[in-house]
Amino acid sequence: MGRLKVGILISGRGSNMQALIDACRAADAPAEIVLVLSNDPAAGGLARAAAAGIPTAVVNHRGFADRASFDAAIDRGLRTAGVELVCLAGFMRILSNGFVAAWRDRLINIHPSLLPAYRGLDTHGRVLADGGRFTGCTVHFVRTEMDTGPIIAQAVVPVRPDDTPDSLSARVLEQEHRIYPLALRLIAEGRVRVDGERATIDGAAAPDTVLINPLG
Ligand code: GRF
Repeated sequence: MGRLKVGILISGRGSNMQALIDACRAADAPAEIVLVLSNDPAAGGLARAAAAGIPTAVVNHRGFADRASFDAAIDRGLRTAGVELVCLAGFMRILSNGFVAAWRDRLINIHPSLLPAYRGLDTHGRVLADGGRFTGCTVHFVRTEMDTGPIIAQAVVPVRPDDTPDSLSARVLEQEHRIYPLALRLIAEGRVRVDGERATIDGAAAPDTVLINPLG
């Protein structure tokens, strides 16, 4: 069986993108990154992808009259590259319902909280303001409502009393870089089944061995 062809959408520095690229370098990796696409020509991740020898593209949202035509251009780029699975990695544009439907169960995202808690932006600041003791990150299939969809992998990160949004973000990010490649591998190995709004992992003995600090 060939390797799963993956496209990554970014808007910024691309550290999660880099983690996915690095994981796919392994000789036995079941996936390969065939395209990195950014809506922002200034995204730092573009240079990192190019340095890794990955084809890159820019679809600047500012050049489009509406969301539908922007999404159609992204869709074209992905399909032309033969992409089978799309990974959002800090992609800061909301995708239209049509795009999400067209890529249903083939479109995943990483979010810096334990979903369904703390959807949206500034997750770490809000966790600290609420006095939460734990937070974390989630890889999930994308549905039309932002930061919802079947959960593939999560990691838990304890909150320290002296944490700032930046310090907490840095520790959560370390876990993001572990669970995103893990989720990609599980999908590429054909071990993730989606039943409606729930994803299950074939061969997972117990959820806590695979879904919480899975590599720890
Ligand atoms: C990460 O925190 C990710 O969870 C969120 O956006 C940020 C992207 O960071 N969706 P990077 O560009 O991958 O470094």
